[in-house]
Amino acid sequence: MQPIGAQHEFHDPVYAQDWANRFVPTRPRQALFDLMVEQITSRCPGNAHIVELGIGPGYLAWEILGRIPGVSYEGVDFSEAMFAIARARLAAFAGRIVYTRADLTDGVWSARLSRQPDAIVSTWALHDLGAEAHIAAVYGQARAVLPTGGLLLNGDFVKPDESNFDYEPGRITPSRHEELLRAAGFGDVQQLAYWEKDVDNPTSANNYACFVGIA
Ligand SMILES: C[S@@+](CC[C@H](N)C(=O)[O-])C[C@H]1O[C@@H](n2cnc3c(N)ncnc32)[C@H](O)[C@@H]1O
Repeated sequence: MQPIGAQHEFHDPVYAQDWANRFVPTRPRQALFDLMVEQITSRCPGNAHIVELGIGPGYLAWEILGRIPGVSYEGVDFSEAMFAIARARLAAFAGRIVYTRADLTDGVWSARLSRQPDAIVSTWALHDLGAEAHIAAVYGQARAVLPTGGLLLNGDFVKPDESNFDYEPGRITPSRHEELLRAAGFGDVQQLAYWEKDVDNPTSANNYACFVGIA
C-alpha cells in the first residue's frame, strides 16, 4: 500500500494551475485561515511584515492581505509557476507584497528575505519538503530570523499520533512538530487546532493541524 501523501509537480505550469483549481478553500480549510488571521491580529503590530513559506497560489495571502490592511507580505516559494498564479490572484495587493524565490531545503532561504519578518506563516507546505530534518531546519532558521516575540504559525498535514498507517516522510505527528519547535528555541508552543481528523480513513487531504511558537 502507498504511504498517505501525494506527488506534486509544482514547477509545471499546467499541473500548478490544475492543483490550484482543485485546492480551493473548503469550509474547514477556511477555518485555518481564520485562525491565522486572528493570531496575527492579536499578536503582531498593525504594520507587521509577514513572510509565508510556500505561498503557492496565494489563498492564505489573499485572506491576510485582504483582512489586515496595514501588513506587508513576502511570499517565498521555489516555483515560478506558482508565483504566476499568486501574482494574478493578488494583483490588487501588488504594492504590499514581494515574491522571493528560494528553496526551503537549501539552508539559506532566510538570507534572501527582503527584511526581517514579524511573523512567519505557512499552510500545507512544509510536509512537501519531504523529511522531518528539513522541517526542523526550517523551524531553526525561522527562529533565527524572527525578533524576540516574533510569531511562527504552521498549518500543515500531519500523521495522527495514534496512527498505524505509513505516511510520506514530511507528514509528521503533532507531537513531533511541537518537539521540533521547542528544540528550535520557540516558546509558548501549542497545537491550536486540528481539522478533518480521521485516524482510520486517512487521505492525502485530511488530518491537518495548526501550531504556534513564539520566538
Ligand atoms: C500547498 S502549496 C501552498 C498553498 C498556500 N499556502 C496557499 O494558501 O495557497 C505548497 C507550496 O510549497 C511550495 N514548495 C514545495 N516545496 C518547496 C521547497 N522545497 N521550497 C520552496 N517552496 C516549496 C510549492 O511550490 C507550493 O507552491
